[in-house]
Amino acid sequence: MEPRDRQQAASSPALSSQPEAGRGSSSRSRILRAATGLSLKLGIASAVVVSLVIGTGAFFAYRGEKQQLLAGMTRAASAQGRLVLTGLKAAMLDNNRTLLLDLIEEYGRSEGVERIYIVDATGGVALTTEPSWIGRSLELPSDVCPTCPLPPGAPLTRTSITEEGGVSIMRSMMLIRNENRCHRCHPAEQAILGGLGVDFSMAAIDEARAAIVSRTLRWGTAVCILVLLAVGAVVQLGALRRLRRLRDAARALPAAVDTEPPAKRPAAGDEIRELERTFENVSFSLARSMAEVDHQRQFLIDLIDRVDDGVAVFDTSLDVVAANKSYLERVARAGDVPALSCADGPACLLHENGITECPTRRAFRTGTLEKGMHKRTADGSTVSYEVFASPIAGDDGTVSHVVEVWRDVSERMALEANLAHSEQLATVGVLASGFSHEIATPLGTVATSIQGILRRIDGKDRLDAGEIAALRSRLEVAAGEVFRCRNVMRSLLDLSRRRRSVAESLDLAGLVRRMLDVVRPTADERGVTLEYRQDCAEEVVVVGHSEQLEQVALNLFVNAIEAMPDGGRLTVALTAANGRVDWKVEDTGIGVPAEDQPHVFDPFFSRKKGGTGLGLYVTKQIIESHGGRIEVARSSPSGTVLHVSLPRASQPPPEAA
Ligand SMILES: Nc1ncnc2c1ncn2[C@@H]1O[C@H](COP(=O)(O)OP(=O)(O)OP(=O)(O)O)[C@@H](O)[C@H]1O
Ligand SMILES: [Mg+2]
Repeated sequence: MEPRDRQQAASSPALSSQPEAGRGSSSRSRILRAATGLSLKLGIASAVVVSLVIGTGAFFAYRGEKQQLLAGMTRAASAQGRLVLTGLKAAMLDNNRTLLLDLIEEYGRSEGVERIYIVDATGGVALTTEPSWIGRSLELPSDVCPTCPLPPGAPLTRTSITEEGGVSIMRSMMLIRNENRCHRCHPAEQAILGGLGVDFSMAAIDEARAAIVSRTLRWGTAVCILVLLAVGAVVQLGALRRLRRLRDAARALPAAVDTEPPAKRPAAGDEIRELERTFENVSFSLARSMAEVDHQRQFLIDLIDRVDDGVAVFDTSLDVVAANKSYLERVARAGDVPALSCADGPACLLHENGITECPTRRAFRTGTLEKGMHKRTADGSTVSYEVFASPIAGDDGTVSHVVEVWRDVSERMALEANLAHSEQLATVGVLASGFSHEIATPLGTVATSIQGILRRIDGKDRLDAGEIAALRSRLEVAAGEVFRCRNVMRSLLDLSRRRRSVAESLDLAGLVRRMLDVVRPTADERGVTLEYRQDCAEEVVVVGHSEQLEQVALNLFVNAIEAMPDGGRLTVALTAANGRVDWKVEDTGIGVPAEDQPHVFDPFFSRKKGGTGLGLYVTKQIIESHGGRIEVARSSPSGTVLHVSLPRASQPPPEAA
């Protein structure tokens, strides 16, 4: 991925300008409606087409079978008619009516024969097996003329289907031609003498036809169902499934898709047209949205590129998936750009400093914001970076990416270093001037005392009692001043030593009670009553250096006792609330004058004879190094309250745990 692509990938989140909701849903419902309508129409059309095809096929099959049946019956009827006629011919030539009647009755009993009859040339029934038919007149076939000879090739047998007494019958009429041997009874000019009619019952045919209909219906229905199933499967595979997919895709369309049509058109008449129109709209709206997203993305890229901090986004493989200009120009090394990654140690910028686990790796592991520092030397100058690694959670809640921000803090660090140095110099200056004053003054006194002593003993072998007393007094002054120097040295040594011990979680209440016991003899001597009070039920635990906090307690208690030369009450109260410990030291002493209050924590500020003025200064340093603060809460000629506030520790001290 090219850096530019990475930048673009980084800035893809869509910002504002969401299209109106609702339009998308109408487009979606149009697609859904069209897809459902098409599915329904396809289903119905397939069913109709299949039914029509199968129905037509079944009809023709039925008709063919029926025609075959009739043709067969017709052939059988004319054959039987000819057979009967041949059988009757001898009796006719003899003009033996009785024999004729017997014969036709005999033939008439054959299966399927309804009746047999002989008609004359006018159609009148002359002889019949049906007595009621005697005298009845039947029509000869219309093309038959009794006096005209039959045209050559004309059939002698005519078959027709007719109704007789509500029964369907097949009538086979065989024409009886005039022959020489008939001229005895019939004139020679008559061509047709009449006809022999045989009526066959169609009941068997009707039964067979009904059987064909039932069979055709059964088979037709079965075939219809099978074909419908097959067509249904094909339609399902070929069209319906696609339509369903289309419907699902439409359901998945974001509700906010703008479907404003490119041009207003009349409502579409069918589903295909509707789908076409809807998809035109959707594609138009998607194109517009894409353009909008592109615009927003470009805007974000420009915005992130303008940020002075280097910004890069890492995936879980620790590959850089996006980076801004500043990162590429200032943070990444030239060779890294084509394949930025910190997955392998040497490629990770932070590994240059020997960091075994960079903030990004830590952020992937912990899921919280991680920080680190990094120094890079390029072109002879060193740049200090503060590196922030912010995790981004994926859909499943795990960290999917980490955003690394590199901030150049060189200037700030230089300023801070200067400030710290200035503060140190100032403190050293104050301490040095105070120290020289505190040491020089007593040393001056010591020197003066010694010079005075030397002057007094100069040239003398013996001293009287008065002179010895004077000398003792001067030596006592010198000794006092030497002790004072020693105290100052001790305080300063304490100040320098206090960083060496190890912080631990400790019971402040126990420490305070122990220190009260230490000062109790002095307090008793001065007529000072000691009182301890704990205003909370919980343990008062802090993290700190016990010997330093003991020194704090001693400094505060001794100051309080010293402020009550005529006796009084020293009350120490402890309480813990809101993550802090409040420690109050209250006395009924002389108080701190208002003008002194701002200076009591200054080094070497003392209103006491022989005081170093380092007690409260050291106390304040210790409290602040423990994350606390100290102040004169209240002071008046009738007493003083000093208030110490320290962070409360959550862990109980080891002995209590
Ligand atoms: N409880 C108090 N009541 C009245 N004044 C006080 C009290 N605590 C401190 N002070 C004033 O603050 C000054 C500074 O106190 P600090 O403990 O720093 O020095 P010091 O007590 O004078 O000397 P050192 O502590 O070396 O004996 C004291 O000299 C005193 O004037
Ligand atoms: Mg003091």
